Amino acid sequence: PAPKSGDLLALAVATARAAADLVRERAAGVVEVAATKSTATDVVTQADRDTEALIRRLIAQERPEDAFFGEEGVSTGSTTEFSGTSGVRWIVDPIDGTVNFLYGLPSYAVSIAAEYAGEVVAGAVVDVPHGTLYAAFRQPDGSVAAVKNGEPMAVRRPADLAQRLIATGFSYDAGLRRIQAEALVRFLPVVRDVRRIGSAALDICAVADGALDGYLEEGLHLWDHAAACLVAEAAGARWEATTGAGGRRFVLVAPVHGYDELRKAAVQAGFLPVESVPGV
Ligand code: IPD
Repeated sequence: PAPKSGDLLALAVATARAAADLVRERAAGVVEVAATKSTATDVVTQADRDTEALIRRLIAQERPEDAFFGEEGVSTGSTTEFSGTSGVRWIVDPIDGTVNFLYGLPSYAVSIAAEYAGEVVAGAVVDVPHGTLYAAFRQPDGSVAAVKNGEPMAVRRPADLAQRLIATGFSYDAGLRRIQAEALVRFLPVVRDVRRIGSAALDICAVADGALDGYLEEGLHLWDHAAACLVAEAAGARWEATTGAGGRRFVLVAPVHGYDELRKAAVQAGFLPVESVPGV
């Protein structure tokens, strides 16, 4: 039987809160790089690893039949992470904004999403330094609801492109960074400003909360945006994760109203490949 998305959300929220407590405890101590991953700039701390292990244990205690897809398990090539028989898969970023966490910059989060039959049905994002909880779930009729600390949220009513504040992020890959920098050269002059805050999950939740007019990044991973995109969708945003030339993944999140105009500007700037295929 299909699981109740409300039950999955309750587990996501309780687990994300416990994980955030652990991250907060570690932030108070000495934080050091434990290893590098895809490139020298792509780092992992012991707190990332321990938090992912905690999340995995808490979820497996309640739902041992579910699959688990976590950032740190993937980077260590641990294939046992993926198995499951219930049709539910948990998509986890133990610390989104690891570099901010390393430096003590107060923008990093725990992100936990539950997917059923290939669709994200529940998501929880906890802003660790501020203790804010963003939570969303998809109801059986397909409608979505989201709250920030229990209160409803709504996207901002977008102005002209020239008055929109857009956030982005940069890859850890030097080649992709070059492409992102070149796209920024064309994009920055046509919007109000561009932010690079350092946690995609929190940036996307900020779009949901009306604190940003949009988020875009080429090369984002599923665990960075799965939970936050559900939150944003429920608050009145549209989002897409598309794959373009060379299999590069591009994510765009913005209020439904005015979305197409922003998308067009992103394509023109070279952020989004023209031949991209939506829905991947
Ligand atoms: C990163 C952050 C960052 C984004 C990067 C992500 P991580 O996640 O979300 O804002 O620009 O693409 O990899 O590595 O801190 O979990």
